[in-house]
Amino acid sequence: MRIKFRRKSYCCILISVFMIFLLYEWLTLQPKNSQYEDPLLVKGNILCVLVPYRDRFEELQQFIPHMEKFLNSQNVAHRFIILNQTDSLRFNRASLINVGWLEADRLRCNYLVMHDVDLLPQNPALDYTYPGIGIVRHIAAGKYHPKKRYDYAKFIGGILLLTLDDFKLVNGMSNKYWGWGLEDDEFYLRLRDANLLEHLQRPDNLNTSRGDTFLHVHDAKKRTRDQIYTPLQKQMSHRRDRTSGLFSVNYVIADRQLLKIKGITALVINIELVCDRKWTPYCTLD
Ligand SMILES: *[C@@H]1O[C@H](CO)[C@@H](O)[C@H](O)[C@H]1NC(C)=O
Ligand SMILES: *[C@@H]1O[C@H](CO)[C@@H](O)[C@H](O)[C@H]1NC(C)=O
Repeated sequence: MRIKFRRKSYCCILISVFMIFLLYEWLTLQPKNSQYEDPLLVKGNILCVLVPYRDRFEELQQFIPHMEKFLNSQNVAHRFIILNQTDSLRFNRASLINVGWLEADRLRCNYLVMHDVDLLPQNPALDYTYPGIGIVRHIAAGKYHPKKRYDYAKFIGGILLLTLDDFKLVNGMSNKYWGWGLEDDEFYLRLRDANLLEHLQRPDNLNTSRGDTFLHVHDAKKRTRDQIYTPLQKQMSHRRDRTSGLFSVNYVIADRQLLKIKGITALVINIELVCDRKWTPYCTLD
């Protein structure tokens, strides 16, 4: 009786193992054309394209198909994450990117590119492949940026690519930048202090120039940027922030949605940032 029972369960286990094996085979044989297939089944490097965003749908409609084609031509496995700031506070690009890191981690990306939605790479030599730990790659290099005023040595804005590990190592970006600009200059200091700028990569010797390396998309409505600086903000903006960062970003995710543009899937995260008004009272303008 006992032996019989054992034999039965042994048989059940064998059948179960075989079924699991079949299921695994079936899953791994599924076509790999979807960006949102089970992350466990994707092997190798995955790039998360983090796009800080608010109300620029026309630009997004151009960005997604362009980047899809561009990244596919470099065989870069990727996911698009649109970081849609939905609260009524001033735009905070750095905090959105911090939230983007947490989402990228969930999606098992191992490297990220923070990417302006209005800057489209044109030269195929602009490299979006995995950089390796300890390597930061500034793709929108000042000398090729459509706007000449960004041509300064410490400029790392526009398009910056690095591993998730290195972003975490410097505690992400400062959360004190509300309104437009300077958060990338502060990020430069974080990278410098972590010795991550020793191997900073920038495109060089391209066969294109400032005029045709990137396409700068101009919004038809000529949207104005929030470039107001209150006196306190001015005072705070130029200081290295040694406290806030990736693990102190305060936010609520309203929801996550899949957006399809020309058949390409992007993940939209609707993010409500929370402002500490004692620390950064300039997060609103009233
Ligand atoms: C971003 O959020 C707003 C709500 O604040 C919503 O109306 C808009 O559709 C969202 N954008 C995208 C691309 O989903
Ligand atoms: C520039 O170089 C790339 C390859 O790096 C090539 O595909 C492209 O055709 C070249 N463009 C011009 C204008 O020579």
